[in-house]
Amino acid sequence: MVRVFQNPDTLLTSLADFTLLKGEEAIRRAGSFNIALSGGSSPKKLYELIASDAYRSSLDWTRVYFFFGDERFVPADHPDSNYRMAKESLFDPLGISSGHVFQIDTSSTPGDAAANYQHKLIAHFKTDKPIFDFILLGLGDDVHTASLFPHTDALKERTLLVTDNFIPKVNAFRITFTYPLINLGNTVAFLVYGESKANAVRTALEGPHDPDAHPAQGIKPKGELIWFLDEAAARNLAKRP
Ligand code: 6PG
Repeated sequence: MVRVFQNPDTLLTSLADFTLLKGEEAIRRAGSFNIALSGGSSPKKLYELIASDAYRSSLDWTRVYFFFGDERFVPADHPDSNYRMAKESLFDPLGISSGHVFQIDTSSTPGDAAANYQHKLIAHFKTDKPIFDFILLGLGDDVHTASLFPHTDALKERTLLVTDNFIPKVNAFRITFTYPLINLGNTVAFLVYGESKANAVRTALEGPHDPDAHPAQGIKPKGELIWFLDEAAARNLAKRP
């Protein structure tokens, strides 16, 4: 499903409403809400909105467990750290206890970071097929998502839940959820706004099917998949919802 909103503000408000609705449903159904956050710059405003007075009392945060769909292989206090961004914009303002935040430990090697995180997931979910209630994803202008970048090894992973991935484009390692893990998700939502993403959105949704070149095309969850777009990001779509 593709939902297009007039501007980033209405998009973010709708996605915040949707996220908290999914949280309420999960807590009612299972007593907890397991959510994987995306990184980069787009979601920061969403996290700040959810942590604002308008939303902060809308969910029992003691029932929510936060994970990361990917992480840059940098220290937790590095400006590029997805954990640092979420800590500053979401966890600290909401007073989330550290026991409810599953950080990717980047203090060892990329391989250890990925293996340790996979172990954390399996221990938390008590299964080697963890089903997230909600996975938030972004979209790069090269149609990457999480840290599944075009023509990189992680795209081929069919067994591991989490892997390290060397990204030649940025000459750095990332840690990322794999397709098998993301595609187990109950709800997977892309948050994409701004005209700089219009070509990537069109390629992801209407371009030739080639997940190796366009990794977001490999996101086919068992559950629901919703694209939250603003008009600017959707402007090149031939088929408008
Ligand atoms: C990351 C993200 C990545 C991001 C896209 C879009 O760690 O960078 O998880 O997949 O969602 O690169 O990033 P922007 O929102 O900054 O454009």
